[in-house]
Amino acid sequence: MTNPIARLGELGIIPVVRLEDPTQGDRLAEALLAGGLPCAEITFRTAAAGEGIRRMCARSPEMLVGAGTVVTPEQAQQAVDAGARFIVSPGFDRRVVEWCLGHAMPVMPGVATPTEILMALESGLNVLKFFPAEALGGKEMLAALAAAFVGVKFVPTGGITAANAAAYLKLPMVFALGGSWLVAPKLIAGGAFDEIVRLTAEAVALVAQVRSGGGKT
Ligand code: 3PG
Repeated sequence: MTNPIARLGELGIIPVVRLEDPTQGDRLAEALLAGGLPCAEITFRTAAAGEGIRRMCARSPEMLVGAGTVVTPEQAQQAVDAGARFIVSPGFDRRVVEWCLGHAMPVMPGVATPTEILMALESGLNVLKFFPAEALGGKEMLAALAAAFVGVKFVPTGGITAANAAAYLKLPMVFALGGSWLVAPKLIAGGAFDEIVRLTAEAVALVAQVRSGGGKT
C-alpha cells in the first residue's frame, strides 16, 4: 500500500472538510470520487469528525481519509480508531507529533515560522502544512522560508482557491495543496454535490495541467 503522505503528494489536493453531521460525508465521498479525488481530511472542528471518518472509511474504502485540526493526542487516537490514515494539525504540537510517530501514523504538522520548521525537522518530518498560507504572506513567504530549508516540502493551506491554486502548485517546494474551496461547508449543507464534483474535477485538472508543465499563473 502506498504511503499515505506520498499518495497525497500524487493527488496534489487535500480537500479540507468540515462535517456538521457524519452522514453528510456519504454524498461528499461520492462527489469527491466522481470528481477524481479519492482523499479527504475531516477536521476535528466539529463533534461529527470521528464518526464522519468512521463512516467514510467504511462506506468508501477507496477513499484515503485522514483527520485534520488534530490538536491533542486524544483526538489523534480517536481519529485512528475511526480509521484515519493520516493526521494533520494546524501547528506544531510535540505531544501530537510524538503520539503519531509512536503509533506509526503519518502526521503533517502545521508550520508558520523557521523555528517551527526546525522543530518538525528535529522530529524527522519534512512534509509540513504551511498554515494559514495566504494570511502569512502566501507564495512570497513560502519561497523565503523554503530557501532556508532545502528538501522540506510544504502543503500550503488557508486561503487557497481555484484562482490561486495553480501559482502555488508550480512552486518546487509545494508537495500538495490543502483547502476547503471545493468542499465548502455551505456547499455540503446546501446539498450542492454537483458543484462539488465540478470544483473537484476542475482542481484535479489543474494539478494535471501544472504538473505536465502547462499551468497558468
Ligand atoms: C484548515 O483547517 O486547514 C483550513 O481551514 C483550510 O483553510 P481554507 O478554509 O481557507 O481552505
